[in-house]
Amino acid sequence: MAVVTVRELGQHLGQEVELRGWLYNRRSSGKLHFLIVRDGTGFVQAVVARQEVDAASFTAAGEATQESSLRLRGVVKEDPRSPQGHELAVTGLELVHLAEAYPITHKEHGVDFLMDHRHLWLRTPRQVAIMRVRAQVLASCREWLDRAGFIQVDTPILTPAACEGTSTLFETDYFGERAYLAQSGQLYNEAAAMALGRVYCLGPAFRAEKSKTRRHLIEFWMVEPEMAFCGQAENEAIQEALICHIVRRVLERCQPELAAVGRDVQRLESVKPPFPRISYDDALGFLKARGLELPWGQDFGSPHETAIAEAHDRPIFVTGFPSAVKAFYMESDPQRPEVAVCADLLAPEGYGEIIGGGQRLADLARLEERIDQHGLPRSAFEWYLDLRRYGSVPHSGFGLGIERTVAWILRLEHIREAAPFPRMLQHIYP
Ligand code: 4AD
Ligand code: MG
Repeated sequence: MAVVTVRELGQHLGQEVELRGWLYNRRSSGKLHFLIVRDGTGFVQAVVARQEVDAASFTAAGEATQESSLRLRGVVKEDPRSPQGHELAVTGLELVHLAEAYPITHKEHGVDFLMDHRHLWLRTPRQVAIMRVRAQVLASCREWLDRAGFIQVDTPILTPAACEGTSTLFETDYFGERAYLAQSGQLYNEAAAMALGRVYCLGPAFRAEKSKTRRHLIEFWMVEPEMAFCGQAENEAIQEALICHIVRRVLERCQPELAAVGRDVQRLESVKPPFPRISYDDALGFLKARGLELPWGQDFGSPHETAIAEAHDRPIFVTGFPSAVKAFYMESDPQRPEVAVCADLLAPEGYGEIIGGGQRLADLARLEERIDQHGLPRSAFEWYLDLRRYGSVPHSGFGLGIERTVAWILRLEHIREAAPFPRMLQHIYP
């Protein structure tokens, strides 16, 4: 007998199959038990009729508690009323483990309670759908970059220096020396790009963010492509193509998941190139007209990003931020040295920044100066300066935040749902 997953049931109509999973919910009416069984690929109704199964199976079906694990046999039947289009007419059932009283019941629970039970919260239909979409987003990143000739080069997590400013560093002891958890793989990516041309890293990044917002995690995942011999225009074109690919793949492959979280897919279907662009200068005018005045030189906060992003149906690039609000490694505009050659990509529907990127400073003397201005220890960056000593080239790259992207694609209220085990300001358990 074929062992199948819930997702594969449709390919076995009329056949008897074996299914393994957990009991999500049950209704019973004397001679019948209606079990909703989940197995990670989906949810299906399994009907246990007293007349169709042996007494032990029928008793087990009646005794099984929420989240008990089960092994079922049954015939796959078409059922137009069910969301999956079919159900299982059970012929036998074995209780693998009788679950204790399950803490997450079918009533509403508060977020704090759910966060404390994240290891169990993950089993619910909405969370399963989000995790499947997250996996698709990650796979689509790799797929697009691999096909475009990028080489994945993994960058270290334990590092001797800061990449994205010193205010969000996690410090740790490295055999008597100071080390930090990586805020970004970018600097190492730049070295790898000089070795391999086009590279990317994909992994966790750590920021000791003291801010408690619906957009910030302490530990998040980021894909960071880096390209040698590449200016900012091409950098933005790559971002556009990558984002469109990710959204297209989710639309193609995750329809059940999009439905499970109630996503309005029409909003995603308009995510096509070209994306609109607005300069930082023009954005200030746009913001002022909406009562969000900001003096030139200041960085955007969430309300500013939200206002800009909400005015469009697809992601928008904000270009040319003041160098002073950006990291030390940014190239500056030769005509206006106070402006960085960079862009943030803001997601629509109020989601704000999902990508930060730009062209890197290629000149040795100016980079040395910048490192000093930012009060960074020159000695920790000697290796990075070597990249400007031995065949320096114009190069660019960007970082795409995976959880922010998932939160936008699924229109999640809070980024915490986009991470399997979110690390937040006051939350590290479980
Ligand atoms: O803009 P950021 O800080 O840029 C960098 O780290 C560059 N070194 C990337 C590069 O050019 N290689 O971060 C990039 C993206 C942001 O746009 C956002 O999507 C995400 O990483 N991000 C966060 N996501 C969740 N929680 C946080 N605390 C985040 N900080 C950044
Ligand atoms: Mg940024």
